[in-house]
Amino acid sequence: MNFKGRDIVSIKDLTKEEILHVLDVGGEMVPIAQGKEKSDLLGGKIMASLFFEPSTRTRLSFETAMKRLGGEVIGFAQPGATSLQKGETLADTIRTAESYCDVIVMRHPHEGSAKMAADFASVPIINGGDGAGHHPTQCLLDLFTIRKEKGKIDENVIALLGDLKYGRTVHSLAYALSLFKVKMIFIAPEQLQMPKEVVEECQSMGAKISFETDLENAIEGIDVLYVTRIQKERFPDPEEYNKVVGIYKIDTKLLKKAKEDMVILHPLPRVYEIEPDVDKTRHAAYFRQAFNGVPVRMALLALVTGVRE
Ligand code: CP
Repeated sequence: MNFKGRDIVSIKDLTKEEILHVLDVGGEMVPIAQGKEKSDLLGGKIMASLFFEPSTRTRLSFETAMKRLGGEVIGFAQPGATSLQKGETLADTIRTAESYCDVIVMRHPHEGSAKMAADFASVPIINGGDGAGHHPTQCLLDLFTIRKEKGKIDENVIALLGDLKYGRTVHSLAYALSLFKVKMIFIAPEQLQMPKEVVEECQSMGAKISFETDLENAIEGIDVLYVTRIQKERFPDPEEYNKVVGIYKIDTKLLKKAKEDMVILHPLPRVYEIEPDVDKTRHAAYFRQAFNGVPVRMALLALVTGVRE
């Protein structure tokens, strides 16, 4: 298994064994991520954090990961303050940034942009989300969280709920879960169901998938409920968004029908889909999930820079 120098553009860049290795290394990183142990594993290394689109968790957890491992961070979160404003291309931005750093983490609104950056850069590119395309590090931390919360990934019934059409995290997660022995339920209104090509690819890998529109019908049998936000910014027509906004709402009344040990995950940010009083229930795992981004991203940074095998 050799990660050194590799780009992580899509979860499909990794085999099941490689995914499990990232999760295992992430597990070792937890005490460092919590600040309970010190490390200089990435001492002398620089990560460029290039965020062309808003982010809270991905950017901050990558930056925390780098700093907890003794590395340095350069970059921007407001592309309006860079030479993009003067018309510089993404290719030239990447070619410049790579000469200042050892690894680039980028988020960009355009699908395919991370792949394009990887074609230009000689340092590893880690995709922090490219439009409606891929978000591989979110997928890794989702798998890490499922394994941590449930003890294993296999043999769970995992429901993906909400905007399965535009939500990039659920596309990556559906693919990755197809590598495991799980049952998946895709719960969405007809117009936001999982794209046909994603479903067909998962089924060709042997995935067991059922489809629902009504969460109440399915909730009793679910072990992991992965909730997503309706992605307003990706709807071409605001009227279409207005038809589906607020369609699913997780509240304590609904949770009375759920298994006692069902866990709720959400990549966050949430808007209307989970009521705040759910946060106090034993089901809410989404803030632990957000923390898990730190050890998992530490693992990935250590692996692609070659300081850890
Ligand atoms: N989950 C996630 O990608 O969150 P951010 O958009 O805040 O980075």
